[in-house]
Amino acid sequence: MDAFDRLATVPWRALRIAQVLPVLGHVLSGAAAEREIDRFLRNRRAFDGDERAAAVEAIFGVALWRRRLLWHAASADPRALLFVLLRDLSGVGEAQAAALCDLPPPWPARRPGPERLADRWSLPDFLEALLARELGPEADAFAKAICMPGPVCLRTNTLRTTRRDLAVRLRDEGVETVETALAPHGLVVTSPRPNLLALGSFRAGLFEVQDEGSQLVASLCQARPGETVLDACAGAGGKSLALAADLRGESRLVACDPDAERLQRLALRAQRAGARVEIATRPPAGLRACVALVDAPCSELGILRRGPDARFRIDEGELATLPRLQRGILEETLPHVRDRGRIVYATCTIRSEENEEVAMAFERDHPELVRNPASEASDGFFRTYPHREGTDAFFAARWIVSRGSDAR
Ligand SMILES: C[S@@+](CC[C@H](N)C(=O)[O-])C[C@H]1O[C@@H](n2cnc3c(N)ncnc32)[C@H](O)[C@@H]1O
Repeated sequence: MDAFDRLATVPWRALRIAQVLPVLGHVLSGAAAEREIDRFLRNRRAFDGDERAAAVEAIFGVALWRRRLLWHAASADPRALLFVLLRDLSGVGEAQAAALCDLPPPWPARRPGPERLADRWSLPDFLEALLARELGPEADAFAKAICMPGPVCLRTNTLRTTRRDLAVRLRDEGVETVETALAPHGLVVTSPRPNLLALGSFRAGLFEVQDEGSQLVASLCQARPGETVLDACAGAGGKSLALAADLRGESRLVACDPDAERLQRLALRAQRAGARVEIATRPPAGLRACVALVDAPCSELGILRRGPDARFRIDEGELATLPRLQRGILEETLPHVRDRGRIVYATCTIRSEENEEVAMAFERDHPELVRNPASEASDGFFRTYPHREGTDAFFAARWIVSRGSDAR
């Protein structure tokens, strides 16, 4: 099913235009769509399922497709944008779309679909240029893929259960899944919109929600029981918890992040998962890890499908500062890796300035780093893409540290 097929399945007849319209205005003026949707639904407890679905898809759709809608409507009026979302993208009849949107004629003239990448897939100009530069002939397929919300993917907590047993337990709880194609412990949820966080299996720590690509990045560390592991940019711990499961509770895992609020969430998740994790804002002095993961702050262009308006909220000026930050974190982490240990650098972006260029400059300045292939690509770098693997886009590089006679 593509993005337009999906729009055609929305119960648009349940659209409550007077209530939805003000929210569209907020989102188009820069308010975060997810937050607006949450607030809207909290205040509409009396809405039935179809009314909720139509409202969410209207807000989500206008947030995501705003540039394409502008092209069809030739007007920035939120009501006209919603009208063309229904008529031109979702296949609702013109008179019905006008009635649902309460839009009097004359209605915007129908136009054939746009040719330009940015209009077709609703991208800001800078992102259109960036995709063309980074992905060449695959830019269109990538842009199309990020117009669909990603699949809901789970990672089995192998400290507590197996993937097969988890799938059975979830089925008993009314949630259908299929196994991920690439990640060994992943399940993709196929039931529509289950409330996963309310499930007994979630409260019992049997799984975490984690994209398949993110699971694969954690597994590139090849963490083995008995090894000391440093997660230098742990955040709320998506990859730390995967590492903890690989270590089977028999090792030291140090998870660091300067953001105390994220670390607090990590602590709660670790408790639920039964994972032993040492939490700190910085790596402890003297720590010498067998493997370190630097899952660095980045432009997050690889996870754009996770938020309908994420692409319109990127601060272009901030992008230029990222390579220096990423390199700085790598430099701070390297001394904490012991001789013959491994260091993995990862991002969830497709920008070569943050990926290959950071990795190669780091390697050039450290002759003790020996690139260790993380994929079958000729350069040994690991990459996933939504239009190829169906995962979020990730980049990773892995090195062995070989200090020779200076070994510590
Ligand atoms: C991509 S996120 C990490 C996501 C996490 N590893 C996961 O899998 O859920 C990057 C993290 O780097 C952290 N960070 C920012 N500046 C940092 C720095 N100078 N050193 C270490 N971490 C930093 C951010 O707070 C953020 O949590």
